[in-house]
Amino acid sequence: MILAPMQGLTELLFRRVYEECFPGAIRLAMTPFLSLTHNLHNLLADGTQSSTLKHFMRDVLPEANRGSIPITPQILGKEPEEFVALGNRLYDMGYSEVNWNIGCPMRNITGKHRGSGILPYPDEVKAVLDGVIPKLKPRLSVKMRIGLRQKEDIFALVPVLNDYPLASVTIHPRLGRQQYTGVPDMETFAQVLPMIIHPVIYNGDITNVGDVQRIKKTYPKVADIMVGRGILYRPTLPLEAEGHVLNEDEWLTATKHFIMRLYEETKATAPTAESAIRKTKEYWCMLWRGLPISEAEARKVLREQELTAVDKLIHSFIQ
Ligand SMILES: Cc1cc2nc3c(=O)[nH]c(=O)nc-3n(C[C@H](O)[C@H](O)[C@H](O)COP(=O)(O)O)c2cc1C
Repeated sequence: MILAPMQGLTELLFRRVYEECFPGAIRLAMTPFLSLTHNLHNLLADGTQSSTLKHFMRDVLPEANRGSIPITPQILGKEPEEFVALGNRLYDMGYSEVNWNIGCPMRNITGKHRGSGILPYPDEVKAVLDGVIPKLKPRLSVKMRIGLRQKEDIFALVPVLNDYPLASVTIHPRLGRQQYTGVPDMETFAQVLPMIIHPVIYNGDITNVGDVQRIKKTYPKVADIMVGRGILYRPTLPLEAEGHVLNEDEWLTATKHFIMRLYEETKATAPTAESAIRKTKEYWCMLWRGLPISEAEARKVLREQELTAVDKLIHSFIQ
């Protein structure tokens, strides 16, 4: 199973704690993306770095990732020169693959034909691949949605993607304009799957072992499954997907231990109490679903303003 990139959630701290609690359960994680900027190759060349670039570089630093889940760094953007500069820097740091994000649905990104905003334009996708692949040292994989506003986008894109030596294609079968609403379009996924010559990774709404088994059985061609929000809803899922059967007690103990460790590390590394509270609440919005508590109870945590109060409440749920 592969861990989906989730900006603000699955950075190094999460990956390290996850690997500590469930060693080997996730074979690979894609990192949250770095967005290319027009001056990126200069920033990389002369060693000056923007705060976003510094944040990304810290997240992918090989020494810091030792003992954590193996990663594939992700890049967002469509400027070949910057793409190649960053990709080749990552290769020199030891990464044999980088991932191209053409699925991001955020409006400020799609408007510039980036993320899922490029999906309606196969010629632009081709231009990026033509500009990047001949000069890129690491292998390239792609993570995409089925379209921006219409599913027809992916049918026009598959022949383009098939023309290049991609390491894999991850498909989240929603449209960009859907953001995270509605359900994955499995009909379209089933139609495009046989057309793609690259290994295909399925991503979208995997939240329990039944979902994993159904995808594997229905689509034997799928090379791997990527889990996103589901890992926060049910942190034991990757372990269970490997065939480990956990009884109620084992499941709850493992879940609580993971939440406690994630929370401890978040507190220990956050620069201020405010950022510790913000981060804790971001995780909590999803993590509480893995515990036998009601939404009304869980919401109490979100209303607290003091770290000690947040701390006390969470501990009352996980002790
Ligand atoms: C908070 C958040 C941040 C995300 N950040 C990224 C990202 O940086 N790169 C990316 O490719 N996808 C990103 N995604 C999308 C997920 O990787 C995944 O494709 C999506 O959530 C569907 O999978 P899921 O239903 O298993 O969560 C993000 C999703 C969420 C909820």
